[in-house]
Amino acid sequence: MNLTTHRLRIRNLRESDLDAFHAYRSDPAVTRYQGFEPMSRQEARDFLHEMATAAYGKPGDWVQFGIADRETNQLLGDCALKPDAQDPRMAEIGLTLAPSAQGRGLATEALRALIGWLFAETEVVRGVLITGTENTACVRLLERCGLRREGHFVENVWFKGRWASEFLYAVLKREWGGV
Ligand SMILES: CC(C)(COP(=O)(O)OP(=O)(O)OC[C@H]1O[C@@H](n2cnc3c(N)ncnc32)[C@H](O)[C@@H]1OP(=O)(O)O)[C@@H](O)C(=O)NCCC(=O)NCCS
Repeated sequence: MNLTTHRLRIRNLRESDLDAFHAYRSDPAVTRYQGFEPMSRQEARDFLHEMATAAYGKPGDWVQFGIADRETNQLLGDCALKPDAQDPRMAEIGLTLAPSAQGRGLATEALRALIGWLFAETEVVRGVLITGTENTACVRLLERCGLRREGHFVENVWFKGRWASEFLYAVLKREWGGV
């Protein structure tokens, strides 16, 4: 993976990302709405090792890429992509930015690029993102990128010790400009 935008480079994670990756992945504010818990340094190291040569494409498997500053290559966050297990013409996307990288439109830039890449470079014709209804920054991001809220699941998931609700957002290739 090597996808560049105006300010970003989306690329494979690497072991030298460890300090930056562990700093935000061990931050409870970052993992609050996500399906994983804060990571130990060793867990972060193992994860980077596993993802260093990962490629998108195996149905049902999440693959994680780094979101880095285009000029310095410093890691700012990461994104996750998963072709649907039953039909890989659909894919799910996830996104995480370090707190210091938030609030500058970088997630918007990364998400637009990823959706464009999926539609232009893979067989995907439908992209999906699922977010906790209380994750207002993520809801704003998805609305800003023009995704459609197709589902509101009420207390559908046992999440970090209580029932939580989720929104499902989607976008179709035929709706996406520029492809
Ligand atoms: C979800 C997440 C990636 C959103 O990050 P974000 O920084 O809010 O989103 P962006 O990078 O697009 O920045 C948008 C904000 O920057 C502002 N901004 C500044 N310059 C901007 C620009 N050039 N373009 C767009 N927005 C800009 C916007 O006004 C917006 O602020 P607002 O939401 O207060 O209105 C982030 O909250 C995160 O990593 N959360 C933890 C992980 C998580 O829960 N992920 C979701 C599950 S998939």
